[in-house]
Amino acid sequence: SKSQIGVYGLGTMGSALALNMADHGFDVAVTNRETDWIAGFMAEAGDLAGKLHPYDKLKDFVAGLATPRIILFMIPSGKPMDMMIESIAPLLEAGDTIIDGGNADFHATRRRAQTLQAQDLHFVGMGVSGGEKGARFGPSMMVGGTAHSWQQLRPILRRIAARFEGDPCVDHLGPDGAGHFVKTVHNGIEYADMQVIAEVYGLLRNGAAWTPAQIGEMFERWDRGPLKSYLVEITGKALQYDDPVTGHPMVDVIKDAAGQKGTGRWTVVEAVRMGQSANMIEAAVGARSWSSEKDTRQQAQAILGGARSAIDADADTLAEAFLASRVLCYAQGFRILAAASVEYDWTLDFARIAEIWRAGCIIRSALLDDISEAFRGDLPAGQLILAPKFAEMLARTVPALRQVVASAVHGGHAVPAMSAALAWYDTMRQGFGTANIIQAQRDFFGHHGFERLGEEGKHHGPWWD
Ligand code: 6PG
Repeated sequence: SKSQIGVYGLGTMGSALALNMADHGFDVAVTNRETDWIAGFMAEAGDLAGKLHPYDKLKDFVAGLATPRIILFMIPSGKPMDMMIESIAPLLEAGDTIIDGGNADFHATRRRAQTLQAQDLHFVGMGVSGGEKGARFGPSMMVGGTAHSWQQLRPILRRIAARFEGDPCVDHLGPDGAGHFVKTVHNGIEYADMQVIAEVYGLLRNGAAWTPAQIGEMFERWDRGPLKSYLVEITGKALQYDDPVTGHPMVDVIKDAAGQKGTGRWTVVEAVRMGQSANMIEAAVGARSWSSEKDTRQQAQAILGGARSAIDADADTLAEAFLASRVLCYAQGFRILAAASVEYDWTLDFARIAEIWRAGCIIRSALLDDISEAFRGDLPAGQLILAPKFAEMLARTVPALRQVVASAVHGGHAVPAMSAALAWYDTMRQGFGTANIIQAQRDFFGHHGFERLGEEGKHHGPWWD
């Protein structure tokens, strides 16, 4: 009998997803570019091997699938995907679906969907979050594509997805690039949340002389309250490990230079392109970039001095500052989604997106349940920070954020994401800001004109009379 789905690419994520599907009783055709990997994968599949059908040749892999076919590609994004589409498309028939489950640039996904549409083929861009464990035992999945593809994928994806109180963390979010866009923003939020966690660690470590293990225990405690989240949980654990080689705390031997593969940067670029600014995500991407300049920073410390003084904020105050930052960070992420929804005519369901992020994905946290609820209710100006629950939460926690940022700034500690959070919050709550000055300057030097308060039309200042 024929397989219900094909998985091309048996790297970490592809293998885990194929095993997850087999585990849920689906027949899965599998193959890989390097065909000598396939036997190893099958050997490791153990009991599940009966549901996994390996093929060496692309032609046979395609022929082994029930029609209309659904084929999931788990390969590096970019050029490899275009090459694979080129080689597999001629073997497919009208109505078949190709799925890209990688972290692809949604512009490329839109282009690919359009190209394949001309051949009556469907292209799905699917964001998969949760790392290897998630993929194997329940990821969160963000699907963009046609209704036809979703109808076929739905029963499989709902079975293999993570569940939040029984609700599978997967949905069809819109056409073509919508799923990959939502995944990109998920990663942008992930970057900012990770950066805030790193800043909180830094303040306790360098501003209060806590040991990594003590900070780890504090994170574990926080993971049982309103800050509960996967990233807090794993950071708490990681901080309590020692290096088997030196015996030092593990985090003390890890080089302070962060990698990044592009999704955080794409979030920022897309936000800016749409006339938005997600300054916490910008700060997080920038902080990773600065982190990679290790040599320069070491020279700068020698020349400029790197002293940092003690901070004036206890752990409870830090926890509140963290919570305020997290609310603001999610709010920024959802604003980018809102802008894209309008720009691309996607009608994204923000409440549903928050729901499918409640389990399985990297940014899963206690807050997401409140966020989905807030989106189901009335949001003044469509803004998450104005939902009664979050407005109240911010009123309660921002004073702590203010104290932490002020104290960090005073003590010479870098807190780019938390200070960005505060800058955004303070900007947004000013009904009358300072852009009148920008407008006066623009008119003064360039005759650009400005609107007068309460009056339509273009005016110029008396400096032109
Ligand atoms: C996830 C992660 C995952 C991966 C990213 C992170 O949701 O499971 O976001 O997709 O960890 O590649 O990207 P960086 O390597 O840029 O941190």
